[in-house]
Amino acid sequence: MKNTVPQALEINTVSESKIGQVDFENLNFGNIFTDHMFVCDYANGKWQTPKIVPYGPLTMDPSARVFHYGQAVFEGMKAYKDDNGDTFLFRPDENFNRINKSAERLAIPEFPEDYFFEGLNALLKLENDWIKPGFGNSLYIRPFVIATQASVSASEADEYKFMIICSPAQSYYSGDVSVLVAEKFSRSASGGFGYAKAAGNYAGQFYPTNLAKEQGYQQVIWTDSNAHEYMEEAGTMNVFFRVNDTLLTAPVSDRILDGVTRKSLIAIAEKEGYKVDVRPVKVSEIVEAAKNGSLKEIFGAGTAAVVSPVKAFGYKGEHYELEKQENSYAAHFKKALMDIQYNKTEDTFGWRYKV
Ligand code: COI
Repeated sequence: MKNTVPQALEINTVSESKIGQVDFENLNFGNIFTDHMFVCDYANGKWQTPKIVPYGPLTMDPSARVFHYGQAVFEGMKAYKDDNGDTFLFRPDENFNRINKSAERLAIPEFPEDYFFEGLNALLKLENDWIKPGFGNSLYIRPFVIATQASVSASEADEYKFMIICSPAQSYYSGDVSVLVAEKFSRSASGGFGYAKAAGNYAGQFYPTNLAKEQGYQQVIWTDSNAHEYMEEAGTMNVFFRVNDTLLTAPVSDRILDGVTRKSLIAIAEKEGYKVDVRPVKVSEIVEAAKNGSLKEIFGAGTAAVVSPVKAFGYKGEHYELEKQENSYAAHFKKALMDIQYNKTEDTFGWRYKV
């Protein structure tokens, strides 16, 4: 299924950019898209000539398998512009490797590395004006793959589309959130595909999240599907707990996404000498820590929000409020990570990738 033979990238640009119609001061996350998109079709057993074309609707057969069996995976990345106007990606190799790991689990053919990086670089160069400088501004990049073969036969497709679309984003701050710890619902199960960025993992979250919203919570902390005994993820993010001065987070597994923000925060915290404990985190120990005052912080970590602080959580009908911390780990690690992403500090990890 691997196809590494490079083929020329075809580029067809728009005659007029729509950038003048965009209010960059008032962007809602994920609603506005740039002028171009990257498309590469898989047919006859191989990925075809990759193309950059004007952004626009797709025409697909109603029986395309993605509509029926959810054979779809995606990634979330960002491009950042520094004060000199240079553009950077953050650990893009991680996203490239993960989309293929997700694809493998959903029986989607592997996408070639040279197509991905050549296409992404060319797309970002074309959309340079859409990447606004300023701490917090970014271009959110959404690579994805869908099964396009027209057939409702329940097996993997033999035709796919790999695409990259881009959406300008502002600093993501929705306020500190309250979360409900799941007692019944799960986002993934052992042996399933929770580790994959598969569309279905997200679709399955909407209903339990709506039920949590009816109780006054904005997000759900997902617990293990076996006994709902362990904290696993928060909303669409990995989750961290600070108990006294120790940072706790669950190890990745087949149920938990190997988040790029998650692993970067762990590396920064360890390098800075913080105590980091990556191990299964029991719901009961966090409830106990909330009761005895040793639970200082909870935060989600993901590409879109970077770090999303939690101000309260609910569990078994009880509501636990967290005190605001003066020296918040969430704020500290968010800044440390963003300083690297925006080229404001030395990148001792080698994570920045210049476009
Ligand atoms: C992320 O923050 O990593 C995401 O995947 C968010 C996306 C689902 C909007």
